[in-house]
Amino acid sequence: MISFDINSIKFLKILSDSTHKKRILTGIRPTGALHLGHYVGALKNWIDLQNQFDCYFLIADYQALGDHFNDIDLIRGSVLDVTLDWMAVGLDPDKSSFVIQSYVPEFAELSMLLSFITPIGMLERNPTLKNELDSLPIERRTVGFYNYPMSQVADILLPRAHLVPVGEDQAPHIEMTREIARKFNRMFGEVFPEPDTLIGKVGRLLGTDGKGKMSKSSGNVIMLSDGEEIVNKKVRGMFTDPNRIRSDIPGKVEGNPVFQYHDAFNPDKAQIEDFKKRYKQGKIGDVEVKIALANSINEFLNPIREKREKLKSNMPMVEEALMSGIERTRIIAAETIMMVREKMKISTYTK
Ligand code: TRP
Repeated sequence: MISFDINSIKFLKILSDSTHKKRILTGIRPTGALHLGHYVGALKNWIDLQNQFDCYFLIADYQALGDHFNDIDLIRGSVLDVTLDWMAVGLDPDKSSFVIQSYVPEFAELSMLLSFITPIGMLERNPTLKNELDSLPIERRTVGFYNYPMSQVADILLPRAHLVPVGEDQAPHIEMTREIARKFNRMFGEVFPEPDTLIGKVGRLLGTDGKGKMSKSSGNVIMLSDGEEIVNKKVRGMFTDPNRIRSDIPGKVEGNPVFQYHDAFNPDKAQIEDFKKRYKQGKIGDVEVKIALANSINEFLNPIREKREKLKSNMPMVEEALMSGIERTRIIAAETIMMVREKMKISTYTK
């Protein structure tokens, strides 16, 4: 076995321990630009977290191959769209590390190595994976897709993250990560912290059609990059209370996406209360409520649009933001892989 330089591990460890903050890893699949649902369900929370933790925000382009292997161009374009959206809403590449999964080959290496201590049953029993597979036509159920929770385990363990902020549906993957970390540490020696799920104060935004969550494939989204006119049009067409055929009929506020969006984007709480009261009494028309909503969303989006445009005219800066995060991730990735190889007694080479 070729030996490696233990001092370089120590050096790297000092580097990555130089910040005493707990580490966070979370991610997104680059399959399009981001929408208001992403903001409410994740980004808003991440913006807070970046001030308290050492955050790694992953653009999981390998994972996106799972259901978009026939549309690589979409994935490639979306990597920059996602980065633009992240920076436009206020994620700061100087505070956190943005990273593209395929730029750090150790993600794939760790996933492969960990797969040897991962029982197939863990994937077979994973309820999120099961649901997703059921909705895929048989020819799209690839080994790569089936294995994505495994690769997500490696995403989290490679930077040795302590916390993973995700939505409910991702919780089984984090549980699997904990089990694998525990098993690895027990079999080979301590390398990985057992990460905790951080189910934050996040909401889930209904689609503009009121049916389930906002998702691009359902065509019920308002994008962070939508212009004012598009927002006005989308809000005008929004689903409200289907039983309210006239504005003098008392309407339902609960489960009504127009009011859910008001709660999320209208800073004027008194106005929301007034609207809700009158809506329930049949004393306000949908149009008035929607015009106010479109205004609120546009006001929320205005600074984001402005920043996005500014960034767009300076793409080298955006690419630089990605590269610096990638560099930071490469350091900790190399360190983890060296420790893993050492513990597993796999030969290590120096490049
Ligand atoms: N599966 C996540 C999603 O579709 C994205 C993701 C990839 C992720 N790797 C991750 C989330 C690691 C948290 C941690 O949204």
